[in-house]
Amino acid sequence: MEMKGVILAGGSGTRLRPLTRLVNKHLLPVGPYPMIQYAIQKMSQAGIQDIMLIIGKQSAGLYLDYLGTGSEFGVNLTYKLQEDAGGIAQALALAEGFIQPDDKFVVILGDNLFESDLGKYIEAFVNHQYSSMVLLKEVDDPSRYGVPILDGDRIRMIEEKPADPKSNYCVTGIYFYNGDVFDVIRTIKPSERGELEITDVNNRYAAMNRLAYRILDGWWTDAGTFSSLLEANERLS
Ligand code: DAU
Repeated sequence: MEMKGVILAGGSGTRLRPLTRLVNKHLLPVGPYPMIQYAIQKMSQAGIQDIMLIIGKQSAGLYLDYLGTGSEFGVNLTYKLQEDAGGIAQALALAEGFIQPDDKFVVILGDNLFESDLGKYIEAFVNHQYSSMVLLKEVDDPSRYGVPILDGDRIRMIEEKPADPKSNYCVTGIYFYNGDVFDVIRTIKPSERGELEITDVNNRYAAMNRLAYRILDGWWTDAGTFSSLLEANERLS
């Protein structure tokens, strides 16, 4: 089965200001490449060729300059613009149409960098016919992230940036969905910070006992803060 991929690279990168006043976060250098290249490589290595890249207005032309059609990276890129940073789920909603109702697909947040190959997770998602699946990673500072409450092989719920995290696991920005996720997104409302939250989407699946998980092998970091950007550079240089 041909899997499609969606990479989310909108957002405003506030935690990396002033650098992100100059250029969009996902074009900042990580080792020898701009950050965005790693998510594309991970999908390409896993055999995903059709990728939609959701970008913001900032630096939009630079993405085209650098990535073009994607052929240099062995993929076929389609671009879509997210006008304002209205949240991860709002960005994902823009992939409706590119993703058909019967498709299964992978989503990567453009600032997530990791070692492992995605192949075995894609296989697990497809073979088990899960509705939705997330990858978890043990971290030192879970309150920076979405934190799952586990229940056997399912997630009971995810708490977004909890002051008092119930586990040391975080939900990474690598998600697996069916085409019905767009119907789920339509049922959620903006959070207190005014964003459509991916955690609210995942919690809809969790409430139906339909949110599966796997633990991500190898190192993982998001590169959304100066210290994690430094860590990513150290890992990938
Ligand atoms: O990195 C994993 C974490 O990502 C998860 O543990 C959290 O549950 C999840 O909410 C998210 O948290 P962050 O606070 O790190 O998300 P952030 O706002 O930094 O956005 C992450 C990426 O999502 C960013 O690199 C680009 C994309 N994005 C974000 C927003 C707000 C968009 O494409 N559009 C948006 O409007």
